[in-house]
Amino acid sequence: MTAADATEDRSGATEAVASDALLSVQGLEKHFPVTKGLLRRQVGAVKAVDGISFDVRKGETLGLVGESGCGKSTTGRLITRLLEPTGGKVVFEGHDITHMSQGKLRPLRRDIQMIFQDPYSSLNPRHTVGAIVGAPYRIQGVQTEQGTKKAVQEILALVGLNPEHYNRYPHEFSGGQRQRIGIARTLALKPKLIIADEPVSALDVSIQAQVVNLLEDLQNELDLTYLIVAHDLSVIRHISDRVAVMYLGKIVELADRKDLYESPMHPYTTALMSAVPVPDPARRRDRERIRLQGDVPSPLNPPPACRFHTRCWKVQEICRTVEPPLAELAPRHRVACHFPENAPAGHSPGNTGTSGGTTPGDGQGPAVLTG
Ligand SMILES: Nc1ncnc2c1ncn2[C@@H]1O[C@H](COP(=O)(O)OP(=O)(O)O)[C@@H](O)[C@H]1O
Ligand code: SF4
Ligand SMILES: [Mg+2]
Repeated sequence: MTAADATEDRSGATEAVASDALLSVQGLEKHFPVTKGLLRRQVGAVKAVDGISFDVRKGETLGLVGESGCGKSTTGRLITRLLEPTGGKVVFEGHDITHMSQGKLRPLRRDIQMIFQDPYSSLNPRHTVGAIVGAPYRIQGVQTEQGTKKAVQEILALVGLNPEHYNRYPHEFSGGQRQRIGIARTLALKPKLIIADEPVSALDVSIQAQVVNLLEDLQNELDLTYLIVAHDLSVIRHISDRVAVMYLGKIVELADRKDLYESPMHPYTTALMSAVPVPDPARRRDRERIRLQGDVPSPLNPPPACRFHTRCWKVQEICRTVEPPLAELAPRHRVACHFPENAPAGHSPGNTGTSGGTTPGDGQGPAVLTG
């Protein structure tokens, strides 16, 4: 990484913006209004995304992981401007696109593409594969040297489909092949950033690896940058260079893949990791499964301060009153917790740039069960 400048996000935490960032998300928010009565008076808001900041550097894959409902898809839709942010900024190649008009966004639509989860509903059943993959050329008014058909056939071959199947319809393909069609469509206009929302979770496990491998091959071949959203930690581990963990609209941990998987610092990440099956029986014996107590609270009324405090076995008074900032506690490893796990030597518990910390564990029985 090269030089970085600093901006301040809404929580007051200093956010390093890498100068090689293709995408920079700063304090991004989406609050969906909840209305009541005929006059549709606003009575509250679903805080789906509540002040998140991260960069995606050129050529890397950032994985965004978290339980269902934590705001991952909303994040993807905000960045692609399928949804209008209620706060914060989205900066692409140095341009603030947060509230750019649809007209001005049009050329950018070529650069940022989205792959959706469901390869069944995201492809128009009445259009041929040729028409689906060729649509971006027509929409953007792009002429290709060899003609659209030839260009589309080249893309079909690139994603491992038979170019001869140009005139077939989506229902003639399997789930994995349909996702390849969805991927082919995003590649037509040579995008720079691809946001993939659960790109393999609707597929059979046996097919998932093939599609993940395809995404990796395409990244190398076409110099792509990915933001991959998934609830499945194994998929994220396979494909990501860095990983951001989300909980109830916030990023709670962000680190290089290896650091996050080998020494997670946030108790929520630790709990998520403990649920991933380990193939090696020796390692399996060493590891205890952490079962989180209770359900994920509603984003309509999230717990104050640390949002994880209602389910955390390390909770202390400070966790209920002071929001822990996403602080860099180890090189390139940021975590939002007053009492992080695997904290580097010299880090004092409760000292995350706030005051009033105590030692964890006193008076609290662990809310962990082994299994
Ligand atoms: N259009 C919407 N209106 C109101 N609430 C929404 C809307 N879209 C998503 N939400 C809510 O926002 C939260 C985050 O949703 P989502 O981003 O889809 O989560 P994820 O992709 O992580 O499962 C959920 O509580 C969801 O119900
Ligand atoms: S801040 Fe407190 S409640 Fe939140 S994750 Fe850390 S220890 Fe748990
Ligand atoms: Mg989702």
